[in-house]
Amino acid sequence: MATVTINGTVHDLSQIDPSTPLLWVLRDNLDLVGAKYGCGIAQCGACTVHLNGQPIRACSTPVGSIGGQTITTIEGLAQDGKLHPLQQAWIDNDVAQCGYCQAGQIMTAAALLKRKPKPTDAEIDDAMTGNLCRCGTYVRIRKAIHDAADKGGAA
Ligand code: FES
Ligand code: FES
Repeated sequence: MATVTINGTVHDLSQIDPSTPLLWVLRDNLDLVGAKYGCGIAQCGACTVHLNGQPIRACSTPVGSIGGQTITTIEGLAQDGKLHPLQQAWIDNDVAQCGYCQAGQIMTAAALLKRKPKPTDAEIDDAMTGNLCRCGTYVRIRKAIHDAADKGGAA
């Protein structure tokens, strides 16, 4: 397997079994524990990270399939010490409850704002539908996405 760039750092993961899910590598080998294990079968979104800017389910992505590509996790979303507008909007709107699903929610929302800088409610609901929240923070998530969009949140 070739190297993988994760949050701007090149990692040689050639010692890792290529069938290992990316989520395991992030959490257990690289100590990037923002992405969470929820279901393990690509159904909940808690493990969402970006592969070349697109949201993927790290629990169901073999690390051997991503050689030479770029991964961004929630730990890599802030730039130059400044929170991503969505992270700031999440704080301003007090979105999180237990917090377990929220890294995945933000990563999915960040990809949405990249392709739709001013999403409608329907577009938000459509994009976020695969990210489950057992605490039911959906209304605040939608509000925070609008808030970030209003402040130019596609950064
Ligand atoms: S843990 Fe990956 S989608 Fe649920
Ligand atoms: S904030 Fe608890 S699962 Fe979403």
